[in-house]
Amino acid sequence: MREVITALELSELNAGVWSADGGWSRDSGGPIIESRDPATGDVLARVQTATAADYERIVVSSRAVFAQWRALPAPRRGEAIRLIGAELRKHKDALGSLVTLETGKIKPEGDGEVQEMIDIADFAVGQSRMLYGLTMHSERPQHRMYEQWHPLGLVGIISAFNFPVAVWSWNAFLAAVCGDVCIWKPSPKTPLTAIAMQRLANRVLETNGFPGIFQLFISAGDDLAEKFVDDRRIDLLSFTGSTAVGRSVGERVSARLGKSLLELGGNNAIIVDEFANLDLAVPAIVFGAVGTAGQRCTSTRRVFVHQSRARELENRLVRAYSQVRIGNPLQAGTLMGPLIDAAAVARYQGAIEAAQQAGGTVLCGNKRLPGAGNFVEPTIIRARNDWPIVRTETFAPILYLIEFTALDDAIAMHNAVDHGLSSAIFTDRLQHAERFLSAMGSDCGIANVNIGTSGAEIGGAFGGEKDTGGGRESGSDAWKAYMRRQTTTINWSNELPLAQGIDFKVGP
Ligand code: UN1
Repeated sequence: MREVITALELSELNAGVWSADGGWSRDSGGPIIESRDPATGDVLARVQTATAADYERIVVSSRAVFAQWRALPAPRRGEAIRLIGAELRKHKDALGSLVTLETGKIKPEGDGEVQEMIDIADFAVGQSRMLYGLTMHSERPQHRMYEQWHPLGLVGIISAFNFPVAVWSWNAFLAAVCGDVCIWKPSPKTPLTAIAMQRLANRVLETNGFPGIFQLFISAGDDLAEKFVDDRRIDLLSFTGSTAVGRSVGERVSARLGKSLLELGGNNAIIVDEFANLDLAVPAIVFGAVGTAGQRCTSTRRVFVHQSRARELENRLVRAYSQVRIGNPLQAGTLMGPLIDAAAVARYQGAIEAAQQAGGTVLCGNKRLPGAGNFVEPTIIRARNDWPIVRTETFAPILYLIEFTALDDAIAMHNAVDHGLSSAIFTDRLQHAERFLSAMGSDCGIANVNIGTSGAEIGGAFGGEKDTGGGRESGSDAWKAYMRRQTTTINWSNELPLAQGIDFKVGP
């Protein structure tokens, strides 16, 4: 797949820093990292990482670009994103293949990730004409009161390997139309995809006379990441990744009274009740648990099944799992590619062992496939919800099946985990669906009926509660996180009445 790398103008050794001031910098002297294909273990290309001096240059030039960018009318800023969306449409196939090469997700999902960027680009273009503020009726005569939204400034984006470009675009495209300038630190596991995206964005911005609103630094160690998180010049730090790291990011950003947007893990579940249509539930569970090799934050990790349907569901899932084609993620017909690295395989094996020790029965899977690449079999385990391993998010294709008898017990178990991202119920009974969606139901940021936990559309706000971090990205009014709100009151009378009727007269 050398042609993908060439088509996206990547070379054997790539600069991992782009700043508006110095462009691509390769002589900066940061350690060189390798990007490996998780399906073969081969080195795809190497990347020269950033130094502290590179980082400083990026922040300083971002502030200079911000001074220009915030002065442009928002619909004009939207035009820049419209053009990037158009360029993404042209390169969807190549960029989708690169996502597949670097992450190991199958080609339709790699392309789907690029489609998700195109969708959010379209959304952001519309949003650029809809940065609405409210108007209020003042309690004072001849006073007008309203709120307006201004750009925040510098938005730092730390993204994860599993959605190496889409999650950046949720943040970057909205932030851009809001008038912000973005600094991106992608996962060092997927640096090439980030570099390819940066090249694409640079080309569009430069050709059309827009400033360098997107800047990039790749770094594998903690030093620069910590500098970034602690930097008071970064007005919003958007972090996607594990809860453990996200907790520390949140603490450090709040210690400097900065703003953070956290999109952390999930321990997502599907309830299958006695009225469920299994023709819908089975494929939804398989896509949720096996898709992206279980490496989405929205992946389905637990299924609560009514005892009257348990054997039937088990049998159908085991049959479906036996038909999942595992292998080269670029090949048509493959449904599951490799895990990202050897450490992920070790976590997969460790989780299955822990579940077995707790008393779990493995119904299928539990094998690391021989040969090169980080391939494992998707695994189903009959389990109990109170086992610590079941309450832990393992980024792997492991599904825990848990039986219930009463819906309220299933909902209670469903909510009895630390995370609160995505959730679903499969039922044809209106009362059950509504109960699940009610205040007594799912405690997650996303709750679906007859749709699985993963694969959300960009139009809704994306994120979740509890250990998921509380942030909301992409659709709905998530744009507000990238702006500052200003409440404005204008007195057009010739008096100076005080609010709350306070009398404060000086003199006689
Ligand atoms: C993630 O795994 O970090 O809803 C994001 C989904 C995708 C996004 C997942 N649209 O599964």
